[in-house]
Amino acid sequence: MISFENGVFSLGTENFSYMFRLTAHGQLEHLHFGATVAMTDAQAFACKPGTGWGSSVNYDTDGTCLDILPLEWSGSGRGDYRESPMALDMATDFVYQSYEIYGGPAQMLCGLPQAQDVTETLEIVMAHPGGLTLKLFYSLVGEVLLRRSVLENRSEETITLHKLMSFSVDLPGSYEMTTFDGSWDAEMRKSKVSVGAAKVVHESLTGFSSNRHQPGFLLSEPGAGEDHGNVYGFNLIYSGNHYASCQRSFQGLTRVMQGINPENFTKILTPGEIFETPEAVLCWASDGFNGLSGKLHSFINSHIVPKYWQYRERPVLYNSWEGCMFDFNRGRLLDLASRAKKLGCELFVLDDGWFGARNNDKAGLGDYAVNRRKLPGGLKALADRVNALGMEFGLWFEPEAVNPDSDLYRAHPDWALTDDLQPVYGRNELLLDLTRPEVRDYIVENVSATLDSANITYVKWDMNRHSVALGAKAHAYILGLYDVLRRIFEPRPNILLESCSSGGNRFDLGMLCFSPQIWCSDDTDPVERLEIQNSLSYLYPQSTFGAHVSAAPHSQTLRNTPLSTRGNVSFFGCLGYELDLKHLVPTEEKEITHQIAFYKDYRRIFQFGRFRRLWAPEGLAWQVNGGSTVLAGLFHKLVAAAPGYEQLRLQGLQPQSRYCMTSREQLLRVGQFGGLVKHIAPVALDPNGFVLRTADRLYPMNDGVQTLEASGNALMSGVMLNARFAGTGYDPGSRNQGDFCSNVYTVQEMK
Ligand code: DGJ
Repeated sequence: MISFENGVFSLGTENFSYMFRLTAHGQLEHLHFGATVAMTDAQAFACKPGTGWGSSVNYDTDGTCLDILPLEWSGSGRGDYRESPMALDMATDFVYQSYEIYGGPAQMLCGLPQAQDVTETLEIVMAHPGGLTLKLFYSLVGEVLLRRSVLENRSEETITLHKLMSFSVDLPGSYEMTTFDGSWDAEMRKSKVSVGAAKVVHESLTGFSSNRHQPGFLLSEPGAGEDHGNVYGFNLIYSGNHYASCQRSFQGLTRVMQGINPENFTKILTPGEIFETPEAVLCWASDGFNGLSGKLHSFINSHIVPKYWQYRERPVLYNSWEGCMFDFNRGRLLDLASRAKKLGCELFVLDDGWFGARNNDKAGLGDYAVNRRKLPGGLKALADRVNALGMEFGLWFEPEAVNPDSDLYRAHPDWALTDDLQPVYGRNELLLDLTRPEVRDYIVENVSATLDSANITYVKWDMNRHSVALGAKAHAYILGLYDVLRRIFEPRPNILLESCSSGGNRFDLGMLCFSPQIWCSDDTDPVERLEIQNSLSYLYPQSTFGAHVSAAPHSQTLRNTPLSTRGNVSFFGCLGYELDLKHLVPTEEKEITHQIAFYKDYRRIFQFGRFRRLWAPEGLAWQVNGGSTVLAGLFHKLVAAAPGYEQLRLQGLQPQSRYCMTSREQLLRVGQFGGLVKHIAPVALDPNGFVLRTADRLYPMNDGVQTLEASGNALMSGVMLNARFAGTGYDPGSRNQGDFCSNVYTVQEMK
């Protein structure tokens, strides 16, 4: 609901309000972003500067000083010395001219993706002497507010735009800023800083949203926790260089802004031209980080991912990469496909290496001719055989990049994006210049023809090269990318697109508008994935995480982890398997078959249930809630000697209902006990001998199933879990697990 009365704009739902008012001089004074309030509260929120502060420049002789006002937008050179969300080659002073409120969104002209099913939009027009117009858009969708700005050059002069943020706002109070930063293989490391007088800048400069700095971030009041306290979330529906800054003024106002990174950005606007910024997402919750995540998750599931895939269950997939890399042929792939089918996988994905001279990462990228030596019958023959096994078929592409050793590069070296210096390569690649229409046409035609040549229902869209594009070109590249994605996938809405960029190098809302899921990281070690998925969960729903079980020791860390934990972590996402299935022993096949069957039983809840991060002082715990069924995962890193009692404390249950809680039966390999089997075997066995090696391959043990009944209130207070292995021998009533162990509990309401 959006309304305007007595100079006050009020926006919101039943659960939040956002309010600002016009000042006497036509600025927009921010009043409130938080709990639902009434128009009549506006005066109470309004700033009371008294006689103001010394050492100020006044906007007018009445003593108005912009530097101390909480503003919705701010210019430069008029006395507000805080950071301005806009930079032109001159002072800027935009003042209110008019407003309009209408149903639905304000469509963008430049091709940036937008949230769907916006209910209402407020458009505010601000005018600048000389004929510049700034439009500020505020749209309501779900429980979030979208903001963006548009600059229109209605003057007779050409102007140069150096910076235009999607939004700026001054929030009264002190905040801590949580960001998620990292690198390849180690994405989304969470860190928190207090926002004080020194500006905190959070930005990406790689040309993409990047694994270095995730565009989404949080501001929370000091002391806020997972389930209590005021928390704000911000994100950008954009995949390019992003910028956000937060700074607290001496008067106690925290200025927050976010948009396209201004560094190296310039846009020339000739008379009549406009520049549109991406939509920014602003969200508030009073019930802590979990409360905020819940709102952001339903926003993304309902208004960001493509309509066809909203709340549509994702198949359990097998991906050939970690198992085969480039070394495969049709026979090997079909063998893997039939093994994957037996285990329960529903989709077989052929990763890199199927085209051109692509036998390693040095050649072939840019070409699309199928490698007939590896795949004699081509893609169709392979896809048909996979379909005949009862599985869908999916294919990997990396359309944005080119290897210099490729037919494409030999034919069109000028299509690669370079600067005037000696070319620099990333994974032996250059990016194609997606700002050029002929390059975009080449990609659209070749990817489309490949997709139409066989029954392909899934695409992994990879991108492994950071950009070198500077200036307006970096932004134009992203617009080119969106154009390509739109042209290929809008006519093929039922293809499940999973975006990937050396793992989670482009995990952002812009890509999610086209691809309902994103490959979180090239790191498939579950201990690392715990951190990556946990951090992602603050901003994104589990339906957007591609999460695979791989072989241990893990190729990224050399760490050895239990197969059960690899499955348990991946359950809280879109489950897949990515390892050489030929090397599985029967006990592992049994465990995987059980994992997939279990996941399928609860897939809807794992993918779309209400996700919460639970209290777990000694590990990490997650819960997904699907009404009468709740699933909880409890994960540990290193075991403790002589471990104490441990409780599981759930959330969101019916207090008086009775529930039955059972842990998933996980298979334990006898070999894990090594020489310790002497404690349970009736005869002395050689830990390296034939009997034990055979038993390890064929006869799994149970790591201790726990079942209990309790009321919702008891489960929410914290119920006692079975003892952990404590050096006193195997006991089927204990959790017989070592390092990196975990359990998944099913909690079912009883009738
Ligand atoms: C990088 C991706 O992140 C991997 O999953 C895999 O697809 C490789 N590229 C293939 O080259």
